[in-house]
Amino acid sequence: MSAIQTLTPTRSIAAARPAPMEAGILARIADDLRREHRIRSRAKLPPGSTAPSWSHTRRIIADPLGLLLEHERRFGPVFTIRLLYEPIVWAIGAEVNHQILVGDFDAFQWREGRFADLWPLLGDGLLNTDGPYHRDFRMLMLPAFHRDYIAAVAETMIEEAVRAAETLRDGEVIEIYHWVRELALRIALRGLLGIDATDGRERTLAAAFEQSLAIHGEPVLVQMLPFPRSPRTKAIAARRRLDAVVRAEIDERRRRGDSGPGVLGLLLSATDEHGAPLRSSVVRDQAVTLLFAGHDTTTTTFTFLVHELGRTPRVRADVEGELDRVMCARNPAPADLDGQALPVLERSLKETLRRYPPAWVGPRRTVRDVTLEGVRVPAEIGVHYSSWVTHHLPRLYPDPFRFDPDRFLPDREASLPRGAYVPFGGGSRMCLGKRFGEYELRALSAVLFSRLRLEPLSRQDPRVVTTPTLGPKGGLRFVVRPR
Ligand code: HEM
Repeated sequence: MSAIQTLTPTRSIAAARPAPMEAGILARIADDLRREHRIRSRAKLPPGSTAPSWSHTRRIIADPLGLLLEHERRFGPVFTIRLLYEPIVWAIGAEVNHQILVGDFDAFQWREGRFADLWPLLGDGLLNTDGPYHRDFRMLMLPAFHRDYIAAVAETMIEEAVRAAETLRDGEVIEIYHWVRELALRIALRGLLGIDATDGRERTLAAAFEQSLAIHGEPVLVQMLPFPRSPRTKAIAARRRLDAVVRAEIDERRRRGDSGPGVLGLLLSATDEHGAPLRSSVVRDQAVTLLFAGHDTTTTTFTFLVHELGRTPRVRADVEGELDRVMCARNPAPADLDGQALPVLERSLKETLRRYPPAWVGPRRTVRDVTLEGVRVPAEIGVHYSSWVTHHLPRLYPDPFRFDPDRFLPDREASLPRGAYVPFGGGSRMCLGKRFGEYELRALSAVLFSRLRLEPLSRQDPRVVTTPTLGPKGGLRFVVRPR
């Protein structure tokens, strides 16, 4: 069994933890209304659908991609859409992506953006913090995402993928989204947190994450209901189960007096500016954020890759042919997963991340006035960039709804303007787990597609939901066939 190394922290956390956020939905709505009043008293909103619209609010849940593409065509790259009570400025296209992620990065903050909805679950982890507190933690955890470290973790990824593949039987029907979620959580527990034997914890966590996130697919009023089986009550109970798993591991390592391996080891051996260990709730928030960001995204991507290969036989044959040629029926080694060794698979993964970027929206709030593609955007307003929508602009990707990995042939990829392809975000807050996620996706693909073929049970396109990462509503069923 591969061992995850122990890492030594290179810095202490000097910055103060931010003040708690307002978790009550009503109080948050009141805040939003007051803020809008302030904005409107001194500035105009960018053009768009600025009047309250029930149909837009419903459509942003049922068909966000269609609604946003229509608005982009009508109003240009920067426009407003009012969801029931809150206007949001959307910024679509290569230029504005680059501006938000790099050029005018300092005009935006994350904490008060729409990720605030996830604060009750994720707390003050990397996704919900800004400034020195965010920077200190990002630097602290960076060694766990270094090339050499990930190459070592790749052995764990391969080992887990092989073990999971060996449980599958000819003719068995699997629902791939949930199947991969458990596998991805097992890999995250071992490879990220450094928990060697997961003892079925991945199942508790998979169910707990799913129930905690399900509430985000409900209308605001339903989210507030306090009844025993309401989404809110279920989400709170699920959060407690999730916390119990993570806290138990933190307590156990503290009792043993051994911080242990992985990112959790880094967090537990780090100190504040007075040399004291970090509080357990601080460690918990970073660990849960990594578990969330580290499994939900890869789960979605792998699921949609299987879906596209299932309905595009030519691409599937190319991927299988390459795996047969390069690996000659052996298991992959970490060196096969560097992104160079399997170029056909790599292009299919890139195209999957174009069509279905799991983190489809980057929610921010402006901290100062800023001009995006010539449009004035006032301070304090919610601004969203969206990889998903940009990735479907026909001027960047002709016939954008067609799955075509050849778009990422070297010459064609090189001709894309900067900001056109942003499944991992960009700039100084680019996805911390990019390399981890890419290695994991390559490991799962190389192991599974060289051993078996997953045949779709239905030819119908799944409905893509956004809760809060993209996913297929109701999951996707496949029949397992050996190759
Ligand atoms: C296919 C896999 C993945 C995709 C597509 C993805 C995508 C993204 C995107 C788009 C962002 C930035 C969002 C924004 O600009 O608003 C992000 C941030 C982040 N991701 Fe990933 N991610 C993936 C896998 C992972 C994994 C495996 C981990 C953990 C091991 C991870 C951890 C994070 C963290 C911690 C951040 C916040 C970084 C910061 O604010 O400094 N991600 N990810």
